[in-house]
Amino acid sequence: MSFFDETADRRGTNSEKWNKKAIASIAVNGEAEPFWVADMDFKPEPHIKAKAEELATLGVFGYPSFPTFREIAASWLEKKHNWIVDKENILYSMGLLHGVSMCINLLTNKGDRILVPSPTYRPFRLLCSLNDRVMEDYELGYKDGSYFLDRERFIESAKRSKMILFCSPHNPSGLVFSRDELEFVLTTAKNLNIPVVSDEIHGDLVHPGYTHIPMGKANENIGAETVTLMAPSKTFNVAGEHSAIAIFSSGSTLKRFKHAQDALWVSEPGYLIGELTEAAYKDGLEWNKDLCKYLGENAELINSFFAENDLGIKMVNGKASFVTFLDCTGVYDKIKKRVEETPEKYESTSGGVLSRFFGVEASVAMNDGSWFGDQYYKFVRFNYGTSRDKVYNALLRIKKAVESL
Ligand SMILES: Cc1ncc(COP(=O)(O)O)c(C=O)c1O
Repeated sequence: MSFFDETADRRGTNSEKWNKKAIASIAVNGEAEPFWVADMDFKPEPHIKAKAEELATLGVFGYPSFPTFREIAASWLEKKHNWIVDKENILYSMGLLHGVSMCINLLTNKGDRILVPSPTYRPFRLLCSLNDRVMEDYELGYKDGSYFLDRERFIESAKRSKMILFCSPHNPSGLVFSRDELEFVLTTAKNLNIPVVSDEIHGDLVHPGYTHIPMGKANENIGAETVTLMAPSKTFNVAGEHSAIAIFSSGSTLKRFKHAQDALWVSEPGYLIGELTEAAYKDGLEWNKDLCKYLGENAELINSFFAENDLGIKMVNGKASFVTFLDCTGVYDKIKKRVEETPEKYESTSGGVLSRFFGVEASVAMNDGSWFGDQYYKFVRFNYGTSRDKVYNALLRIKKAVESL
């Protein structure tokens, strides 16, 4: 039995993913099993758990000091990504999205357009509008059930933009970008003299056989301006602690970022997250490798399940992390018809036709594709960061629901 076959029971804790009211808001049925919010059900990495237990036994949660934080982060980047970074080019950021928001504010002005690939992790859209910027919606190309970088349109969108906000690997599709694609993005940015901010929160979870190349590493021979944002959150399932690191290609942007964080008094990690991040980055590599393998096998299971069962559903990309888009185009019209026949059965405050149908009929709660952009209403995002039997049982319930149409 694998470590990952056993999951933690998070019902009754302050977990967003397992909150029945929140589940009902997108899936109608509050009892539906959650395959939505992007955290995993696995038990924690053992060094993290041991550190948390040690801290709890000590029982004092006073002010911390982390003089080696940047060094430890740099050694993780070398171990995991073979990327040698001077620790002086790294800063702590209180969460990935905090780092994105800081970059939006430091590197663009109000009213500027920011290129964001879609389907889009929704908070990127929100951060653009909350900061009075305009999201330049660059739709990834889509062919044969796979997203890809459509280069000609990318250049056109970049020309209208003052910054590129990249997501690599891509959430929600699980698309992993090649060195050639990253160099194309960087060269385009350099030619236009605009920065690239790359959200790589899923970058430590690429499946065996694929390689994640950090944007800052791909930039070594190009010389564009980059801010690469990474985090232990998804890597070790400590997302609730909101911790991230920012790696800068430009010393002056780093200084401005540091100054802005100092002005908000948020430059240092809190006690728990600092300790847990250090423990994980120091000792978590082997566990992380096993996790990537397990997630890769889960993805393979989903892919072959939909290939073998003719349900009108296809898995998209799915080469990294634990979320993937399911393309339900082949069955969407039937589902829509069913939902329209008895609308009162499928009413919820948010979500869409697909998330409501599968919540009610399969007891599987997934993010509706429309959360990632209105045009993606024929997709759902499925979170497979859980045990294989739970994934498999959810697939069987999805099959049964579709076959009942
Ligand atoms: C692409 C991406 N960026 C950022 C976040 C959130 O990061 P944080 O909680 O550290 O702000 C998520 C969480 O799902 C994500 O998928």
